[in-house]
Amino acid sequence: MKKIISMLLISAFTVLGLVGCAEVSSDKETVNTPTTEISVAETSGVNDEIETSDIKDTVDESSDKKMLVIYFSATGTTKGIAEKIASVTGADLYEIKPKEPYTDEDLNYNDDGSRATKEQNNKDVRPEYEDIELDIENDYSTIFLGYPIWWGEEPRIIDTFVESYNFDGKTIIPFCTSGSSSIEKSSSNISEKNGTGNWLSGNRFSGSATDDEIKNWLTGLKLLAKD
Ligand SMILES: Cc1cc2nc3c(=O)[nH]c(=O)nc-3n(C[C@H](O)[C@H](O)[C@H](O)COP(=O)(O)O)c2cc1C
Repeated sequence: MKKIISMLLISAFTVLGLVGCAEVSSDKETVNTPTTEISVAETSGVNDEIETSDIKDTVDESSDKKMLVIYFSATGTTKGIAEKIASVTGADLYEIKPKEPYTDEDLNYNDDGSRATKEQNNKDVRPEYEDIELDIENDYSTIFLGYPIWWGEEPRIIDTFVESYNFDGKTIIPFCTSGSSSIEKSSSNISEKNGTGNWLSGNRFSGSATDDEIKNWLTGLKLLAKD
């Protein structure tokens, strides 16, 4: 089975690497050397084994509406989407800041030895972040959690975050940005790692997502009224 998954990943690498690269480049995201193929681990095809039955599609209408948008963004793309979500929902906005910020070198996915690649290859790494000056567990009922996709998954610093909180009674809505990879593998990973609360399946945005795209998504979640 491992061999089959490896083969699927390698094919996805080859095919989607180019797509991811084109989109990264057209979005003017700060990603290294667009002339080299990005090794994108697209998740479709290997997702069949992931248990997603606990993930729902809409917000429980009975939840009250105090909202937080909290995100990690290494090069600003997820930050842009987080700002838009906060602006259309009126939610509070907060950035998860790594204690050791990521340099361009750290983010070089063409380098097997770069910090980000090494972290993604080790599922046990938990990068630290600066203290979060919010009382997330007591003050919010709906939490949007944003991050970039790294090697098909959530950055390990997001694992640090989700393992630090009890989200009982809350709705958590993941969102991500990426060159092309979908959100499913990461949202499944982090809902499992957290193990509390009501996790929605989440949404992937490109860096160029418009306010209307974001509004339509929120309307579908019953978080915004239809015009
Ligand atoms: C280390 C690293 C790995 C990445 N892996 C993927 C990937 O597997 N799939 C993908 O579509 N994009 C991948 N990307 C591209 C980012 O997901 C994309 O540029 C994202 O929008 C960056 O968000 P940020 O600016 O908020 O950090 C990767 C980028 C980096 C730096």
